[in-house]
Amino acid sequence: MAKPVGRITRGTTGTNRLRRIDRWIAAQPVLRRTDDPLVVDLGYGASATTTLELRDRLARVRADVQVVGIEIDPQRVRDAAAATRDGVTFQLGGFEIPTARRPAVIRALNVLRQYEESEVAGAWTTMIGRLQPGGLLVEGTCSELGRVASWVALDPAGPRTFTISLRLTDLAEPSIVAERLPKALIHRNVPGERIHALLAELDRQWAIAAPLAVYGASQRWVATVEAMRSAGWPVHDGRTRWRLGELTLDWAAVAPPVE
Ligand SMILES: C[S@@+](CC[C@H](N)C(=O)[O-])C[C@H]1O[C@@H](n2cnc3c(N)ncnc32)[C@H](O)[C@@H]1O
Repeated sequence: MAKPVGRITRGTTGTNRLRRIDRWIAAQPVLRRTDDPLVVDLGYGASATTTLELRDRLARVRADVQVVGIEIDPQRVRDAAAATRDGVTFQLGGFEIPTARRPAVIRALNVLRQYEESEVAGAWTTMIGRLQPGGLLVEGTCSELGRVASWVALDPAGPRTFTISLRLTDLAEPSIVAERLPKALIHRNVPGERIHALLAELDRQWAIAAPLAVYGASQRWVATVEAMRSAGWPVHDGRTRWRLGELTLDWAAVAPPVE
């Protein structure tokens, strides 16, 4: 076997940490449409927990989903082997995704966070090169408990959308996500960059919508997102998803300039 592409990093993970990401993936059309519902969980970390959770959540929309957890750390692959079950296997590998078949979905959460920004484009290209036509790579970052998350979704042609997902209860400012941006954006949150403009506008609209908090934080978030759309931001979806504390936009709205 060729040497896996990438390197071993910290294996921090946790129960339910990736629920916001899994819920979003389950709502995408890709799994319902594909003839081969193979899903890769790249870099599952020190335990098999989030891979098993991914399988359970996706099985609700696609009963025959098969999830392969891929880790670059051989010890973590040996440790996870005991968790193998119907619809879930584990294997050694890296960004090259050494599965026999092409995946419909690749989830890579909290993996590129520990790489350099300059390594992101190459890792993205390698991973999307393995997707089925119409497939989806979800690459992002979240907090330890999964209450603050953001991710980029890419299809085989490149990045398509950027999503923020926040627990709204006790949310002070949406820009809390600044600490949990994907590697492609985290160093770009400075004046003059699009991601900085987005977070500043989100904070402003969240403050304007403060009186709606009496009806609940979800109502306040929905009003915030509606205001973002009215201001011209290319916002996706509708209230059903916004109520969950999500905001998805065209990637172009936040993409760093090509250098
Ligand atoms: C912080 S853990 C993330 C665990 C889990 N995905 C989560 O979000 O809770 C990152 C894991 O990614 C693994 N990793 C790093 N680069 C990798 C690569 N190129 N291919 C596969 N696994 C990788 C590391 O060994 C580590 O176990």
